[in-house]
Amino acid sequence: VNSRSLIDVEGMSAGQLDQVLAQAAQLAEPDPSPLRGRHVALLFAEPSTRTRLSFEVAARRLGGETYVLDPQSSSMVKGETLVDTVRNLGAIGFSVLVVRHHRAGAAAVAARYFGGAVINAGDGWHAHPTQALLDLFTLRQRFGDLNGRKVAIVGDVLHSRVAKSNVWTLSTFGADVWLSGPAGWLRGMDRYPARVTDDLDQAIDGADAVMGLRVQKERMARGMSFDSYIERYQITEARLARSAPEAYYMHPGPINEGVEVTREVARGPRSLVLEQAHNGVPIRMAVLANAASNVPATPQERELVRSLS
Ligand code: NCD
Repeated sequence: VNSRSLIDVEGMSAGQLDQVLAQAAQLAEPDPSPLRGRHVALLFAEPSTRTRLSFEVAARRLGGETYVLDPQSSSMVKGETLVDTVRNLGAIGFSVLVVRHHRAGAAAVAARYFGGAVINAGDGWHAHPTQALLDLFTLRQRFGDLNGRKVAIVGDVLHSRVAKSNVWTLSTFGADVWLSGPAGWLRGMDRYPARVTDDLDQAIDGADAVMGLRVQKERMARGMSFDSYIERYQITEARLARSAPEAYYMHPGPINEGVEVTREVARGPRSLVLEQAHNGVPIRMAVLANAASNVPATPQERELVRSLS
């Protein structure tokens, strides 16, 4: 009903009355399966455990049909490009595509050529939006308001899409975000809304949460060794003595215990690691439901719904 106020039913058309009734029916019984009949493609061109499984669980809990596309066994190994693959997914009947790719910008490219909704599950060094959302959710559950809370993100920031996406979301909610690690892994980070230092003690000092990142063996810089990293940047209970007494430890996984963090911290009472994994499901449910509501079902999906009912 396109009118701000409701004064009288006299003069309302059948269509307008119907619209109110339809809205009421919808609100009285919120759709329990907003992905019913939807074909959700999970294209993971990079390894993943938590992210892939939680997207799959989330989609199924909303009634969606999930299909995992493994580039290793698809025509992508024959040289079919991401663009070609994505175009064909639309033709086959998918309306939602979750994509992880080793190239920054891959999700945006996919979104340009896919008719439906694309959700970025991590693209190269660029972004990992659902991880940042679930981290935000986890921290807000603990702190409520994040305004003025100090969060230190430590490790290979340069190569971390998790760190970069977290900087945006956390700073948007007023957190005081610090990035720390070896100087070579902080290059260019001064253009992000965060404080940047290779002095770990300064970054951790008074922190309410410390977020570790995986030391990516494949990306150890020249002249850097595991031993020197451990000596200067490993998160230990002793180092956390500088943080707020109840400071939390977070990590997106997978963790190299004994490298970026001790086993004691990673599995100890400060650790939110399993809570983060747990929160991945509701966050991805929300993202998928929203995506599906913004794109029409494909003919194949409509056919499936018809055959189910
Ligand atoms: C991360 C990723 O792949 O971006 N893991 C994750 O999604 N939970 C971090 C990593 O690979 O180190």
